[in-house]
Amino acid sequence: MLKLFKNKICLGCHQVDAKRVGPSFNMVREKYQQDSEMTADILATRIRSGGSGVWGALRMPPQPKVSQEEAFLMAQWILGKGE
Ligand code: HEC
Repeated sequence: MLKLFKNKICLGCHQVDAKRVGPSFNMVREKYQQDSEMTADILATRIRSGGSGVWGALRMPPQPKVSQEEAFLMAQWILGKGE
């Protein structure tokens, strides 16, 4: 799975356990584990479309090279529901 993140250049801005440009994936997991409304589907869409304002002023650019299927796998992993 980390290979997919690396191939998709996510790791240029995110690390699993340390804040970089964007929040660490562990921080994202902690935040949304409290939030029963957050599903891997919603997070996958946010990964693809990018966003801002949730974690600070910096914006995450859209990721058009990531398919919905890949984004879903990554979202599941981040949320701790995948492999
Ligand atoms: C250019 C830097 C950059 C890249 C590349 C990047 N991100 Fe981000 N990401 C950010 C920033 C900055 C935020 C915080 C946005 C915010 O505050 O809403 C973020 C937020 C997130 C979030 C939390 C979204 C939310 O709504 O809480 C997830 C999940 C995420 N990124 C996953 C990924 C994945 C997976 C990839 C690779 C496909 C990726 N990011 C690539 C900068 C980046």
